[in-house]
Amino acid sequence: MLSYSDNILLIAGNAHRDLADSISAFLDVPLSNTQIGRFPDGEIDIKIEDDIRGGDCFVLQPLCPPVNENWIELLLLLDCLKRASAGRVTAVMPYYGYARKDRKDEGRVPISAKVVANTLTQCGADRVLTIDMHAAQIQGFYDIPVDHLNAKPVLLEAIDAMNITDPVIVTPDVGGVKMARSYAKAIGNADLAIVDKRRISGSEIAVEHMIGEVDGRNVIIVDDMISTGGSISEAARVCRMHGATNIVIAVSHAVLCGPAVERLNACPADTILVTDTIPRHGVAPDKLKVVSVAPLLGRAIRNLHESKSLSVLFDTLDD
Ligand code: R5P
Repeated sequence: MLSYSDNILLIAGNAHRDLADSISAFLDVPLSNTQIGRFPDGEIDIKIEDDIRGGDCFVLQPLCPPVNENWIELLLLLDCLKRASAGRVTAVMPYYGYARKDRKDEGRVPISAKVVANTLTQCGADRVLTIDMHAAQIQGFYDIPVDHLNAKPVLLEAIDAMNITDPVIVTPDVGGVKMARSYAKAIGNADLAIVDKRRISGSEIAVEHMIGEVDGRNVIIVDDMISTGGSISEAARVCRMHGATNIVIAVSHAVLCGPAVERLNACPADTILVTDTIPRHGVAPDKLKVVSVAPLLGRAIRNLHESKSLSVLFDTLDD
């Protein structure tokens, strides 16, 4: 158990107070007294009331919607800690926003994930702790340590408890094969199936083929995130069309923007399993199951603070 005298400080932005409270309870360390308000023109006004000089500070803030607000708030918190002579500052981002813009895939576009990295580092982050970035190689955008956990063990525990017989692991697109294979391996070399998805726009996708057999089988569709819900709801629809019986969706980050809630409520999945890296889930409660990453992040924070290895917490997606 840690205590305040250990000189560890947990500072929460406004993005996800419930998760911050759960991590605080797990570690038995109170959240620092932080005032985050607004100036009349909408600019963010921050003051940390506690003495943080020399402290080992962990700033908890997922970059979820409203992503730009939450990003700036995180940067201001980091700057505040740096200028108050914190000993070490770790940006804890359960969800890393802008991660899908990780390369220049056409002319005249930014590499937004790199801009996130630049700004975090410039504003004072000494290290980053995050979960299931859309692309693991974003770690290389930093010259400070990045601890990249994944939510698979947390989701697998919940999947195990469902006692799903002879499941097929399904990925909603070919890009997710590696992740799906690692789930299949963890579930005892389960079969794999791939939905052949084509993206038409940011929120519209078209599904053409199913590669693999799901007829009469229980399926678990795995993905790193649900954004507008197009990919996952189409994958569920195609699985049902090809004869799947019980359909479980298991996803790390429930971003749920635009028509996502409507699509998830209407899709044929029986269970939608997500973690709490992001707050606010408007999905029908009889379908939705939320598992917490608070213990995973809590253990990682404790190990970092005690300069212990994080290896035991890492679960690789490599097969
Ligand atoms: C794609 O590469 C990702 O893994 C997700 O499948 C995608 O970002 C989900 O987006 P949406 O929910 O808008 O289809």
